[in-house]
Amino acid sequence: MLCQEQNVNKYLGVGDRGQAPVPFTVPKLLVWYNTFMNSILLINGSPRKQGNTSILLGEAKKVLARKGLKVKTIHLDSLRIKPCRGCNWCQKRDSRHCVQEDKMTELYRELLDCRGLVLGSPVYWDGVTAQMKIFIDRLFAMMKWKGESYKSLISGKRAILVLVAGGGIKDGLTDTRKMMRTVIKWCGFKRVGELIVPFMYKAGSVKEKPDVIQKIRLLAEKL
Ligand SMILES: Cc1cc2nc3c(=O)[nH]c(=O)nc-3n(C[C@H](O)[C@H](O)[C@H](O)COP(=O)(O)O)c2cc1C
Repeated sequence: MLCQEQNVNKYLGVGDRGQAPVPFTVPKLLVWYNTFMNSILLINGSPRKQGNTSILLGEAKKVLARKGLKVKTIHLDSLRIKPCRGCNWCQKRDSRHCVQEDKMTELYRELLDCRGLVLGSPVYWDGVTAQMKIFIDRLFAMMKWKGESYKSLISGKRAILVLVAGGGIKDGLTDTRKMMRTVIKWCGFKRVGELIVPFMYKAGSVKEKPDVIQKIRLLAEKL
């Protein structure tokens, strides 16, 4: 039976004998397969269309488009994506989607077919925004547990993490980065870089930081 309690414990890193979760290795074939894809998804977890996350993803988009990649911005706040129900329907069959039919159904297809992603979110209450959290939870449908182990249907994608916050590194960015690194690891993405930007309270503050703009451009070059 898929997704037994003991497997879920392993996923959470609390195996009954205190062992680490089953190490996940990205199948080489998937990494190779992804190199033939030419689309990049920019996942924006900020509700502010003119906000700092949007500005940084916009800069990345320009660089990626110049490289000849097909870039699509997913502004999560504009989409109706329902939260995960924890019903495990996605684990009970060999599906490539969730039992809930909404915008995420289309996003699963785009995720399967993309070469890489930029995951961008502001820090809200020491975590990602609600919009980003709902998206992440729904990625569970792409994780398939089998016996003692699991595979991620979206593994091997290249990923950049972008986080902005009003406060300093210790005011939420560190915890949020830790959580997002876990997501990236379990999805089997290859993390090619991170941009962690503190002291960006006002929408648009990042425009006054040419060094940060330069950093996102350089990261986008690597994707
Ligand atoms: C509801 C809410 C919660 C927030 N919580 C935090 C926080 O815990 N730590 C922090 O440093 N900044 C926090 N901020 C500030 C945002 O991270 C900051 O304004 C950021 O620039 C917003 O990104 P955006 O411009 O891309 O929307 C919060 C802002 C809001 C609206």
